[in-house]
Amino acid sequence: MEQNRKESIDELTLALLYLTRFPDREGREYDEISWKNHDFDAIDRLDEEGLIINPKRRRGGGYKYVYMTEQGRDRAREILKRFIIDDTGIYARFEFRSIRPDEADEAVRIEQICFPPNEACAEEHMKARIGSAPELFLVAIDRETEKMAGFLNGIATDEMNFRDDFFTDIKTHTPEAGNIMLLGLDVLPEYRKQGLARELVFNYCRREEENKRKRLILTCHKEKIKMYQKLGFRDIGVSASKWGGENWNEMEMVLNF
Ligand SMILES: CC(C)(COP(=O)(O)OP(=O)(O)OC[C@H]1O[C@@H](n2cnc3c(N)ncnc32)[C@H](O)[C@@H]1OP(=O)(O)O)[C@@H](O)C(=O)NCCC(=O)NCCS
Repeated sequence: MEQNRKESIDELTLALLYLTRFPDREGREYDEISWKNHDFDAIDRLDEEGLIINPKRRRGGGYKYVYMTEQGRDRAREILKRFIIDDTGIYARFEFRSIRPDEADEAVRIEQICFPPNEACAEEHMKARIGSAPELFLVAIDRETEKMAGFLNGIATDEMNFRDDFFTDIKTHTPEAGNIMLLGLDVLPEYRKQGLARELVFNYCRREEENKRKRLILTCHKEKIKMYQKLGFRDIGVSASKWGGENWNEMEMVLNF
């Protein structure tokens, strides 16, 4: 699946365009037109079946965002099998779960590999986070070697914007709070460009959406904005953070209204 992901998307998009086409009577050179926002019935039906959630529709509004449910993801994978596209590979290779206390040193080492010294979180802060908020520290474990390949971690707060104390002061973590401040997305170099960061973010969102969290917030350098947009985050402008003496952008993802 990893090599032909883009190809699969292009082909399935074309098939979907074909399936949703309708005649154009405008007398133009082309007879059929697709995706003119003419048929959202399918979206409604999928929502009614519980395969997707369209929060705006539930509030009587439009269709800008739809989210996949667990059931929807399972059904989509079954459908993809009909096209001989197997999307289960990454789950066969990696286990996604909360970090264990004995894995703290491994996580600290990965943080040091992934970030320059001024940006990497210090060992004591990482360990305090793992001790107090392991349920918000999602790891991907290579099933073959049983080693950690990457992780995504954060803490919970009711604050709306990022501040650097979240990195260093574990007392800012309020377990039942509504928002998650993400503090690190790390994938070891040998595991990059295989969709692992995407899957870590997906799994994290899914879990925290079910935990009724409202928003995920993160900071990143300008050159990563596009990447996070691809993963579902929205750029909300320059952050107050001066972490590592650098300038940062703040991004958010709404999970529950
Ligand atoms: C950034 C990082 C987490 C990406 O991990 P990854 O597993 O290689 O990412 P994925 O394979 O899941 O890529 C997901 C999407 O983001 C894009 N992407 C990945 N790394 C990127 C980068 N460095 N810059 C821009 N886009 C990137 C991919 O092209 C992919 O999009 P596509 O499906 O359209 O091709 C990893 O390179 C890393 O740990 N880097 C060092 C730490 C870091 O910078 N973390 C983020 C800091 S805010």
